[in-house]
Amino acid sequence: MNIDGTAWRTIWLEKDGHSVGVIDQTQLPHKFSTLKLSNCQEAAAAIRTMVVRGAPLIGVTGAYGLMLALQEDPSDDALEAAFKQLNATRPTAVNLRWALKRIQDKVKPLQPAKRAEAARAEAALIAEEDVAMCEAIGNHGLAIIQKLAAGRPSVRQQEPIQVLTHCNAGWLATVDWGTALAPIYKAHRAGLNIHVWVDETRPRNQGASLTAYELGREGVPHTVIVDNAGGHLMQQGFVDAVVVGSDRTTRSGDVCNKIGTYLKALAALDNGVPFYVALPASTIDWSISDGVAEIPIETRSAMEVTHIQGRNNNASSNNQITTVQLTPNQSEGFNPAFDVTPARLVTALITERGVAAASETGLMELYCNE
Ligand code: MRU
Repeated sequence: MNIDGTAWRTIWLEKDGHSVGVIDQTQLPHKFSTLKLSNCQEAAAAIRTMVVRGAPLIGVTGAYGLMLALQEDPSDDALEAAFKQLNATRPTAVNLRWALKRIQDKVKPLQPAKRAEAARAEAALIAEEDVAMCEAIGNHGLAIIQKLAAGRPSVRQQEPIQVLTHCNAGWLATVDWGTALAPIYKAHRAGLNIHVWVDETRPRNQGASLTAYELGREGVPHTVIVDNAGGHLMQQGFVDAVVVGSDRTTRSGDVCNKIGTYLKALAALDNGVPFYVALPASTIDWSISDGVAEIPIETRSAMEVTHIQGRNNNASSNNQITTVQLTPNQSEGFNPAFDVTPARLVTALITERGVAAASETGLMELYCNE
């Protein structure tokens, strides 16, 4: 995506060919800065601390993390240790395990001396495929948005199409384009009049900070709302569709995404608003069927709930990013980072291969060779 005239991706191989560059997402929207990852420990820390985040992007970072590890030590033991270290950083998004496994399968049969180079090529391929898959999701989602626009009563034709999204499933969560936001970018570029309701997405506020940043850079009209506003907006007829991303989708079409997604799906069903989930194949976990019972939900620090981070606009503060406490000292916090939306609440899955019913049959129609 374009930032001040430069085309950026979220992750890249540095010119030295041995280290990896990423955008530091913990500084956005206030500061655009990049970081260089030089070894596996740094890659693991970047995922754990959410310098990089979003299911597809943590997969690609994990893949490059294995490359970094193999550059230092290409032995079987080092490969196994690096796999474990990277895989333990964040438990919910299946893209991480998927990408690590892909690198492992590629390099394991090779002589150790050839492994780092093979990992580099495979990680680059995973990144390129991610871009292509996200753009294809954008095209399939665009067709849905065009249909929604055409199906509205003639008195509403001049109004924008209103899409609500949760968390950040844009280009910052992938290598480029995004999943849930890709159809929105395509629609905006196609000249459709589109407006996005952006859930702030407490506790880490990926909507308020990252989605709003992305949409603003791309010139897409949007409004940030508190997480609790979505149901009310749907009741009032201000939402034409909900589109979100996914961190893990089971073969039966259950969708795990950022905490709060489930409540949006319930409100959407109650108000007859279509609820779409956009995801690439790398997000499907074919090994499980029951999302509520089988998907490990990451619990993050309670500090993310009891405290909030933002830019201090006081003249004396130098616009520093600062953290303030919200709760009484003695109050505890609990911070499950994801929830599961059962397939029955999902109108359809938008994938790189097309639009599928959220069911095993629906997914198998697109992925019968998996
Ligand atoms: O905790 P995060 O910021 O990594 O969570 C990200 C999400 O929940 C996204 O919606 C999901 O990864 C889909 S990204 C294309």
